[in-house]
Amino acid sequence: MSSESPAPVNSEPWTVRRILTWTTQHFTERECDTPRLDAEILLAHVLNCPRIQLYVQYDRQLTEDERARLRAFVKRRAAKEPVAYLVGKREFFGLDFQVTSDVLIPRPDTETLVVELLDALRDLTVAEMIELGVGSGAISVATAVHERDLNIHAVDVSPQALQIAEQNARRHEVDSRITFYEGDLFAPFPEGLQVDAVVSNPPYVQTAELDQLDADVRDHEPRLALDGGEDGLEIARRIIADAPRYLKPNGVLLLELGPDNIRSAAEALEAETSYQQIHILKDAAGRERVLSARRV
Ligand SMILES: C[S@@+](CC[C@H](N)C(=O)[O-])C[C@H]1O[C@@H](n2cnc3c(N)ncnc32)[C@H](O)[C@@H]1O
Repeated sequence: MSSESPAPVNSEPWTVRRILTWTTQHFTERECDTPRLDAEILLAHVLNCPRIQLYVQYDRQLTEDERARLRAFVKRRAAKEPVAYLVGKREFFGLDFQVTSDVLIPRPDTETLVVELLDALRDLTVAEMIELGVGSGAISVATAVHERDLNIHAVDVSPQALQIAEQNARRHEVDSRITFYEGDLFAPFPEGLQVDAVVSNPPYVQTAELDQLDADVRDHEPRLALDGGEDGLEIARRIIADAPRYLKPNGVLLLELGPDNIRSAAEALEAETSYQQIHILKDAAGRERVLSARRV
């Protein structure tokens, strides 16, 4: 597979099976977390087929061009570029999202927030919501797909991220129900906006910890999406302070945070008189992840 040591003329052909074995081994040596999965996603992308199709064409030989394209991806992945950026997409809540290095790659952890949000909106006939830091659009688009009577006001400070979010909203045909705003948290919203839910997966990594993140995240994902200031809660605290002005009575605030700082954020909520029913929810892996509260 490697360009430095081409396979001898009479050697075994480069079939799907052999390429997957070779690439998985290579990624294992380079300490990628999910070597086999990464190999399969990249090969399926090069062959333009669903990943499952690789298993029904195990003995198919790759063309020289396919091998060259895969080789380029393998090199970038071995240098810790995330697979989602290489193939330009990531699945979230059963939907395909376009991603580029301008947006955080949607994480399965964030599905906990979406499940909780859908539950909170269930009994409302028509609902309005705000999402702060929309990024790829994962939360807003997935929620809008499952809740047809919902209008969303989604903001991000990054114009590049907003472009991706808008494309994802169009792709899943919910763009007519999401208004996108560029700016700092609540600043761009119209005067008097009142909503049933304010949600955010804000940047929440402590600045001092950014350098200790895995190379995939540290060197490739946008710092703007990660850096939560000295204690990781700079943005979250601003949201907690300002959300009551936008929430209707009994409206819900949902914040995704890190297991290491979510309890401090819960204390900040408890210190405000505008909130009640404060809860911490766990993600599928059992980590404390989502902070929930109701406007008094
Ligand atoms: C952790 S990412 C979340 C992205 C997406 N909502 C998700 O869950 O995958 C945080 C997002 O907040 C945006 N952001 C950071 N600071 C902001 C601010 N002051 N106002 C608005 N958006 C901000 C970043 O650009 C980034 O897209």
